[in-house]
Amino acid sequence: KYEKIWLAGALLLIVGFIATVSYGAVGAGIEMIDNEGGQVDPKALDQHPKFSEPGTYKTGPNQYDVYVVAQQFAYLPGTSDPIRVPANSEVTFHVTSRDVIHGYEIVGTNANTMAIPGQVSQMTVKFDEAKEYGLLCNEYCGAAHHAMEGKIVVV
Ligand code: CUA
Repeated sequence: KYEKIWLAGALLLIVGFIATVSYGAVGAGIEMIDNEGGQVDPKALDQHPKFSEPGTYKTGPNQYDVYVVAQQFAYLPGTSDPIRVPANSEVTFHVTSRDVIHGYEIVGTNANTMAIPGQVSQMTVKFDEAKEYGLLCNEYCGAAHHAMEGKIVVV
């Protein structure tokens, strides 16, 4: 009889460990929900309804679309003007490039996509807590590649 209790206790402990490990792997305060894409004319970004004015658009109670144009060697928005979203929001990034291939990585998380001329990389991220995140270009894109970075401020 006591053996059964011990066994149940041990099982509970194992389940607890697995839950802790998989939670930890997701990354602190962030969750990448999906990652897909579409097409865009890199020479006509100025005529695009959203990429002509890249920035943060509210789409629902806790939902945002962020349109990002990457170019040598900055993100618009992100580099000179940090992206600001509230905590507990679901943010879909639409990322494209004006020139060459760039990376788009939210530092310290598994949220990572590419900025490709002619394509729109789409990734949805849930931001659970107020925190600052760095943005990093992880694709070699020219002389100042190492300095290409930005910031997301979750408030
Ligand atoms: Cu942009 Cu490396």
